[in-house]
Amino acid sequence: RALDGEASFDAVIAADQKIEPRDAMPDAYRSGLIRQIAQHAHSEIIGMQPEGNWISRAPTLRRKAILLAKVQDEAGHGLYLYAAAETLGISREELTDALISGKQKYSSIFNYPTLSWADVGAIGWLVDGAAIVNQVPLCRCSYGPYARAMIRVCKEESFHQRQGYQSLYVLAQGTPEQRAMAQDAVDRWWYPSLAMFGPPDADSTHSAQSMAWKVKRFSNDELRQRFVDMCVPQAEILGLTLPDPGLRWNEERGHYDYTSPDFDELMRVVKGDGPCNRQRMAHRRRAHEEGAWVREAAAAYAAKQNGKVTV
Ligand code: ACO
Repeated sequence: RALDGEASFDAVIAADQKIEPRDAMPDAYRSGLIRQIAQHAHSEIIGMQPEGNWISRAPTLRRKAILLAKVQDEAGHGLYLYAAAETLGISREELTDALISGKQKYSSIFNYPTLSWADVGAIGWLVDGAAIVNQVPLCRCSYGPYARAMIRVCKEESFHQRQGYQSLYVLAQGTPEQRAMAQDAVDRWWYPSLAMFGPPDADSTHSAQSMAWKVKRFSNDELRQRFVDMCVPQAEILGLTLPDPGLRWNEERGHYDYTSPDFDELMRVVKGDGPCNRQRMAHRRRAHEEGAWVREAAAAYAAKQNGKVTV
């Protein structure tokens, strides 16, 4: 079926069914989805860098193989998401240009440095953990191609989260130095992970419209709270401390109270002034330039397959 007007678009949304690429949709729905899916795809691609930093220094062959596979999965997620964005009428080249020129954003979290091996575990536990909390509801997003892409992405993220947790658990049970390294990583990654969920609801530009269109199913603060509630018992099992003296169970709310991340810092990082923004962008630009010959070769091969003569 192809929808032909906004009345039918509204009916599909109201009935909790999926909007598909050929359906009529409001321009703002299309551009809002391109914005979010592109930002998401760019995050997966830039997100390969902080952990990629440890591939050559993983402590064992087994850890190295796991990390290699994980970083490759992130590339795969980026590709599914670019493909989902393309169904909305934007090309892969346009998306790449928008990232490289700094026109489109990627997640703040990937602008923090990975200083020790324990950071790889902390990223798996906290960053991938936050990503899952944010992305599982996106499996029910109203736009079909995005929702379907999210199902596989979430399964893989869930595996990533467990491997990070297991790796951190081993360090937490290790020598005093290993334990201290694990604690230091958790201390540094906790607040940036909380900030991943975006600004507080009152300052969130897109939430209201996005929730009305059933792209987002929960608000930034609702998901942040869900993440905190999930992490507290997991930290207890690890025997590590979350760096928030304000963390305590609130019987009345049925949730943990916690200290909010520094949202001014989030905005600074989003605007390009985080610890690693320049490095991440420079690396991505260089990789793109160095990959030019691959794109040319692929295009020449495709043209040849189509029976065209190329030089
Ligand atoms: N990092 C960078 N930018 C952010 C972040 C963040 N952590 N949080 C919010 N923003 C940006 C938004 O993109 C928006 O900017 P824009 O208007 O220029 O596009 C602005 O801050 C205001 O935020 P919101 O109105 O709350 O934006 P939105 O409703 O899109 O919610 C969220 C933000 C929760 C990140 C949403 O876009 C989302 O769920 N995206 C899909 C998941 C995703 O991108 N995850 C990436 C990290 S996970 C991973 O890759 C492993």
